[in-house]
Amino acid sequence: MKVLLINGSPHANESTYTALHEMEKVFEENGIETQLIHIGKDAVRGCIACGSCRKTGKCAFDDAVNASAEAFRECDGIVVGSPVYYASANATLVAFLDRLFYSTGFDKTMKVGASVVSARRGGLSATFDELNKYFTISGMPVASSQYWNSIHGNNAGEAVQDGEGMQIMRTLARNMAFLMKSIALGKEAYGLPEKEERIGTNFIR
Ligand SMILES: Cc1cc2nc3c(=O)[nH]c(=O)nc-3n(C[C@H](O)[C@H](O)[C@H](O)COP(=O)(O)O)c2cc1C
Repeated sequence: MKVLLINGSPHANESTYTALHEMEKVFEENGIETQLIHIGKDAVRGCIACGSCRKTGKCAFDDAVNASAEAFRECDGIVVGSPVYYASANATLVAFLDRLFYSTGFDKTMKVGASVVSARRGGLSATFDELNKYFTISGMPVASSQYWNSIHGNNAGEAVQDGEGMQIMRTLARNMAFLMKSIALGKEAYGLPEKEERIGTNFIR
């Protein structure tokens, strides 16, 4: 059983990482393997809607997105972490997630998703909602905690002092571990839910 954690901050070891690392420790205690991908400071371009992934199953831009696709396919759960920039997710992370979710054709049903956000002060719950949208369009159950998953701080030294934020991360990881294990049992007992052929209606009339 494996969880993929994405650090969407340009900083490898600051606030967002502090939240993700608190979760990593709980996953490991629960016997769940973790892989952390740091998107970093390189330019990640946005989706250009070329449709090439529909034919090839991978993004036309061969960068961190394609490099992460296999880890996403293999994982049972994914945690996406972002710093809040202007009450929104970091633009580099948004470009990464748009292309990762759109270009990977594999079925994501019942992979568990969770998002965590870090900020100095404001815009946390708007960013949290924004990130959860990737899961809720993909048949992915969303793990939750005792509060919306956020941590306050401008850097790791401040984030670690947010006792409530750190507890939220531990509770989230425990809930997520339970959900992933329960889903694994459910898949064995019942299989995945039946899928209808997809209906696509564009609102042109
Ligand atoms: C461009 C930019 C915009 C930001 N916008 C906000 C904001 O809207 N609200 C806020 O509380 N903090 C804002 N911050 C501060 C970051 O959210 C905060 O420092 C965060 O903890 C950084 O996470 P990191 O240490 O993992 O990079 C902003 C920082 C930058 C660089």
